[in-house]
Amino acid sequence: MSFIVAIDGPAGTGKGTITALISKHMGLINIDTGATYRCVALAMLNNNIKLEEKEKIIELLDKIEIDIKNEKSKQTILLNGEDVTTQIRSKEVSQIVSQVSSIVEVRLKLVELQRKLAMGKDVIMEGRDIGTYVFPKADVKIYLDADEEERAKRRYKECKQKGIEMSYEEVLKNIQIRDKNDKEKEIGALKVAEDATVIDTTNLSINQVKNQVKKIIRKKQKEIEHRKKVYTPRPDTKWKQIEYKMVKAFLRGLYRIVYRVKKVGEENIEDDKPYIICANHINYLDAAAIVLFTKRKVCFVGKEDLCRSVILNWLAHLFDCIPIKRNAQDIEAMKRSFKVLKENGILGIFPEGTRKGLAKGAAIKNGAAFMAVRTGSTVIPVGIKGSFKPFTRVTVNYGKPLDYSKCQSKSPEKEVLNQVSEEIMSNIIMLTK
Ligand code: DC
Repeated sequence: MSFIVAIDGPAGTGKGTITALISKHMGLINIDTGATYRCVALAMLNNNIKLEEKEKIIELLDKIEIDIKNEKSKQTILLNGEDVTTQIRSKEVSQIVSQVSSIVEVRLKLVELQRKLAMGKDVIMEGRDIGTYVFPKADVKIYLDADEEERAKRRYKECKQKGIEMSYEEVLKNIQIRDKNDKEKEIGALKVAEDATVIDTTNLSINQVKNQVKKIIRKKQKEIEHRKKVYTPRPDTKWKQIEYKMVKAFLRGLYRIVYRVKKVGEENIEDDKPYIICANHINYLDAAAIVLFTKRKVCFVGKEDLCRSVILNWLAHLFDCIPIKRNAQDIEAMKRSFKVLKENGILGIFPEGTRKGLAKGAAIKNGAAFMAVRTGSTVIPVGIKGSFKPFTRVTVNYGKPLDYSKCQSKSPEKEVLNQVSEEIMSNIIMLTK
């Protein structure tokens, strides 16, 4: 697995500086994609190839080898094995690089190289089209921007420090031409990715920008860590099985005392047959009532947010619950649900999708119906009666099986799903009466 941070934006926004600092502080590999275009420009100059000689430029692409090495947070650019880190920043290279990077063949070749350089690594990549074209699924996308004049001032200062002779007006003109060129490219044009965070650096110090970027990256890293914790199922070890039995017995005892749980109709569930249990959802505690009081193991599908608490996360893993992302197509949750049914297990779903969905008049979701029709499964409707007020009775009422093997389909039609949903819900409602 790799972690990709995309830093895009026009020239002079501080991308290079910020990327280098973040790479050093956060241990991410620094890949300056602009340097790859600069290498092609340098190779052209070295071989006396002019911008108009497109055929020769394309031929040149097969003769050069570009590599980026990161050692002790220092980035070295290699062109055919030679260190060209400084040479690629020359005035001559800067003057032609934007046009070179507009040539489609050059872009295609270098994008392939850039993807290869990042493969399987944790990287911070700087460029113009990283978040939109090179890695449209990058984990973090940041677009740095700043006023044209401010950017020209920064570049002018940089040129002076490097001993490059250029007037402020020349630098500004150069920036304007490059901006226009970068924004009008056929492939990989400079633009803000829809899901990027834009930071206007005009009035910010390097430190301020660095801290903002670091905060965004940290937040994402924490999210990924949390996801890993939530989504990785606990292996089925002997100890887990013992723990499962002990915890189930203990909690069942507790529920019995507090909610005086009674169950009716469990004989409708046969041993060793796959089922989908569909129940009404009145309280956070009702999934547990089914899981604890059904003799067979029930793997409930539940919203991932529940796993934010350490205890609930432990319980969810112990009881093999399937966390699902809300309002998104969660392929992983679907795969795990299919697996439960394939292995003759019992899957638990609340078709209402939300607590007290029926009372709130919310539309019934078709998730449970989809699972049933897609896999041709048998649904056991369950009605839960009771208020879950301590020391009042809760009844778990298992209904007669609803067999959907006859309407099994790989791509179920919406109308069929609506009908199945209705049938499941009306059975559940009957069982709650
Ligand atoms: O960031 P830089 O100035 O070193 O980039 C050199 C040129 O390469 C610049 O004109 C834009 C172009 N470039 C690009 O088109 N796409 C990238 N991902 C990076 C740079």
